[in-house]
Amino acid sequence: MCGIIGVLCKNSNAGKIAYEGLKRLDYRGYDSWGLAVKNDGLLIYKRTGKITKLPKKMFYGSCAIGHTRWATHGKISVRNAHPHISQNGKIAVVHNGVIENFQELRDFLAKKGFSFSTETDTEVIPMLIELYLSRNLCFRESVRKALLHLKGSYAIVAISELHNSLIGARRGSPLVAGFANGTFLLASDMQAIAPYATKAMFLEDSELIEFNRKAKVYDIETGKRINKPVKKIDLKLHSADKRGFEHYMLKEIYEQEQAIKNASLQSNALIEKVTKLIKQAEKVFIIGCGTSMHAAMFGSYFFASIASIQANAILASEFQNFLNLVNKRTVVIALSQSGETADILEAVKSAKEKGASVIGIVNVVGSSLTRLADATIMMNAGPEICVLATKSYLAQLSVLYLLANSLIKKHEQAKKELSEAARLVPTIIKTNESKAKRLAKKLKNAKSIFIIGKRESAVTALEAALKIKEVSYIHAEGFASAELKHGTIALIEKNVPVIAFASDASDESITNAIEAKSRGGFIIGVSSEKAKCFDYFFAIPKSKLFSILSIIPIQLLAYYLALSRNLDPDKPRNLAKSVTVK
Ligand code: AGP
Repeated sequence: MCGIIGVLCKNSNAGKIAYEGLKRLDYRGYDSWGLAVKNDGLLIYKRTGKITKLPKKMFYGSCAIGHTRWATHGKISVRNAHPHISQNGKIAVVHNGVIENFQELRDFLAKKGFSFSTETDTEVIPMLIELYLSRNLCFRESVRKALLHLKGSYAIVAISELHNSLIGARRGSPLVAGFANGTFLLASDMQAIAPYATKAMFLEDSELIEFNRKAKVYDIETGKRINKPVKKIDLKLHSADKRGFEHYMLKEIYEQEQAIKNASLQSNALIEKVTKLIKQAEKVFIIGCGTSMHAAMFGSYFFASIASIQANAILASEFQNFLNLVNKRTVVIALSQSGETADILEAVKSAKEKGASVIGIVNVVGSSLTRLADATIMMNAGPEICVLATKSYLAQLSVLYLLANSLIKKHEQAKKELSEAARLVPTIIKTNESKAKRLAKKLKNAKSIFIIGKRESAVTALEAALKIKEVSYIHAEGFASAELKHGTIALIEKNVPVIAFASDASDESITNAIEAKSRGGFIIGVSSEKAKCFDYFFAIPKSKLFSILSIIPIQLLAYYLALSRNLDPDKPRNLAKSVTVK
């Protein structure tokens, strides 16, 4: 997924504002970046890699657009970096999404004398706009007509050397408009505009906005004006900085105490509405991707063990295969931190077409999932900037725990238990952070790390493996501890690291840890008690919510493994914070 931004302002420092905003978006994609500024013509500046210094000449101008890229079409290169320019050099466009018919459009435009200089799908957009401008349409209509050619997803921002407007439009990718006394902003998420905007407007699919002296919104299909509300926004909720931490990842691990507490701050009316939907359902599915899928699996355990309700956890990307089971008596609980993951949005749209009710559990305000869901529970975890999900994961688990208990009218008790668990987070970090740092030095050259656990801890094992893999690039595999003897134990030999989650020394996974130890494995226990078989031990205070809390030492281990391998934990290679492409 890419980050896009646009700025139109009267005090001609549009380039500087766009650059600052772009730096707040670099977690969305960082293969390359670029800006275009309208200042005596269009000035363009593009580089590969993460955002670095911008030449002073780019700080000015009345209008500017910027982009951080996560490559989909075309290799990582300056040429393929956005903004992309029309043939006559007068139009600049930045784009987040995938144009599925770009080759067909290239052929169409080539026949009209246009030639291309990049490998990207995006380059067809400024060319189409130029084509319509050459037919004497206004800038807005030229953009709108150009967009009608596109198949696939887009959020775009466009500027023109010949016009004073800033234009944005979306279908399938997020775009938010910001307003701040005379400065207009457009961005892929609130994060980029929070320091400047005092009001915001979330664009819906098939909407185009034109900023000139004021903002006007149009329907892309019909060209008709649309009246849309502008909302006052809570700035503090969206402004995130490192607050003294070296990386967002560590900051967000430390923020998990507050994240668990905030997750349980849900209105009774909303909880009642959601539990009613679930109780009336004939079938319940919980869907997600990546870490959110792990949370979905946790939800399945909680719903079964606490509320005796069957809720099948299914990968959002595989949900299409289960649509025969979906009808108007189905409830789909969709988990997504960003609320923009393409796999989730596609699954939710398919479920709604079959008449299902959708409950969203989301972190980002105003995201697409919040607008698609029939009811949305906000995680309230605050901005999560690190590409890795940490605090949002614990927030998801907390919401699901609260929901499962609400189904049996134990909502208040669950809130108390979550509050007690939250209070343990600082102790868990204090007890285990330096141990995690030491263990990271020992494991930094490991070929593989195996992770086992029982019941919900079998899911924690999956999440632990994902954290280690995506931030340190060390192979890790998590699975239910009893499965070890059904095959993977063949890989256990002297010094192979095996992390075992065990709520206490009587946990059945200890037996499986001993089996691994007897084959030479190096056993790392995460438990409330130090078992004899542990060669290394992360202590978790006794807690009913051990299964939620026990991931924390391994989040810390993953973080320090990345540092021990001189990697940037906030921006791992090849990843993006929200995968808005399929
Ligand atoms: C988790 O650390 C990853 N960043 C990734 O698996 C993520 O959880 C997944 O892409 C889903 O994102 P979402 O919650 O925003 O939908």
